[in-house]
Amino acid sequence: MKEALECHPQALGAVPAREPRTRPAAQGCHPSRTEEGALTRRITVFGTGYLGTAHAACLAEMGFEVLGVDIDAARIAALAAGELPFFEPGLQPLLRKGLRSGRLSFTISYSDAAAFARLHFICVGTPQQDGSYEADLSHAARCVNTLAPLLRAPCLVVGKSTVPVGTARIFAERLAQISPAGQDCELAWNPEFLREGHAVQDTMRPGRIIAGVRSARAEAMLREVYASQIAAGTPFLVTDLATAELVKVAANAFLATKISFINAMAEVCEAAGADVMALSGALGHDARIGGAWLRPGLGFGGGCLPKDIRAFMARADELGAGQALSFLREVDAINMRRRARTVDLARELAGGSLRGKLAGVLGVAFKPGSDDIRDSPALDVAATLHGLGALVSVYDPVALEAARRACPELNYAGSATEAVRDADVTLLLTEWQEFCDADPEELGKVTARRAIVDGRGALDPARWRAASWTYRTL
Ligand code: UDX
Repeated sequence: MKEALECHPQALGAVPAREPRTRPAAQGCHPSRTEEGALTRRITVFGTGYLGTAHAACLAEMGFEVLGVDIDAARIAALAAGELPFFEPGLQPLLRKGLRSGRLSFTISYSDAAAFARLHFICVGTPQQDGSYEADLSHAARCVNTLAPLLRAPCLVVGKSTVPVGTARIFAERLAQISPAGQDCELAWNPEFLREGHAVQDTMRPGRIIAGVRSARAEAMLREVYASQIAAGTPFLVTDLATAELVKVAANAFLATKISFINAMAEVCEAAGADVMALSGALGHDARIGGAWLRPGLGFGGGCLPKDIRAFMARADELGAGQALSFLREVDAINMRRRARTVDLARELAGGSLRGKLAGVLGVAFKPGSDDIRDSPALDVAATLHGLGALVSVYDPVALEAARRACPELNYAGSATEAVRDADVTLLLTEWQEFCDADPEELGKVTARRAIVDGRGALDPARWRAASWTYRTL
């Protein structure tokens, strides 16, 4: 892991030669003060994906002067114009409000960002490495390596990205080594737990705030940033750096395990002729188990859970604790089997072979409320159907463009009705409300055959069967 962090800033070239700024961010604000307990009104946020943009816009809403930073000039230009480059309910109005208020601005200039504030959040992506389970830390390392030499005054750099345990300690050493501020350039870790589709709500009112810190000064600064959440009753838990990093990956490992547990029960129920929906409901009544994240179906995907459990396993192996997480391999395998089983059901409904058959796919986002198709189980199934010779027609209310770029070989329809027109088999793969509300009689009028695989257990089987559909669920 260490090698991944030791990238030379110049070699990585994160600071462009020309650094146009979208607005003169350093003017008209009060200077930040970093003495212990003093409120730092200016904050930078590096990385403007779902996490960073939500964090930046919410901090501006909370009254801070915020500068969002990214190396992607097109993304920064869009954000500075009030355009969100992805779908996230409620975030665009907050972005525009922040821009109008003058408290939120964007830049690609690391040197402007370093001069702007004494508190810097790192929210860049840590995707899965190609061909490996490990996390790709190159974006985070580049951010630290580029920013550090520019930090001349005492400051706090706060990591929010999900990283393998041990990363923060290496970043902290690196910051102290290469920043002119030396030991006064400190690092804290403050993981983010937001769910896509609920990013604003989860940022403004998080379930808990984890502050992995090495000093009282760092804790005091984070307490001031989150003063309104703490006042509203959000638990503020102070830990060391390694524990803070682990809270995030352990939480995601637990959620993934819960989903795969109920999906494993679904396999047993199918073999035994039992009803997994009823089983899930009954289990959820036990307060020790709880009903959340116990919905059986096509399984988990997205930019977090799959890659986080894999990176967690890879890091545990490096630490010599691989055996402790061997169960996560099974969690991953159960999850992937859901996709294969969905394809099997579609094949059965299509009469034994998908070759030349028309498959209408409803939903490609990894979950409703998001346009994210990263590791989307729905898109994976659609692509597999295509690979098996089916003609696949897809509709999703918000993820079509992203899916089209990733899988141009599929056909993309402008509506659910268009997607299932002449279909031999229909698949519901992302449980958008409009699909749950769809009229089976109306859809049945345009399909070639009334046969549906409900990959999310989201439809009312009685309603669909009453409209003469052959209904199968996982
Ligand atoms: C997740 C975590 O919830 C969040 O705390 C963390 O910070 C990032 O990862 P997100 O990626 O937005 O957030 O997705 P989430 O809402 O957790 O759903 C993950 C996947 O699990 C989706 O594909 C969803 O369809 C699936 N899921 C969820 C189930 O299959 N069954 C369930 O019961 C719940």
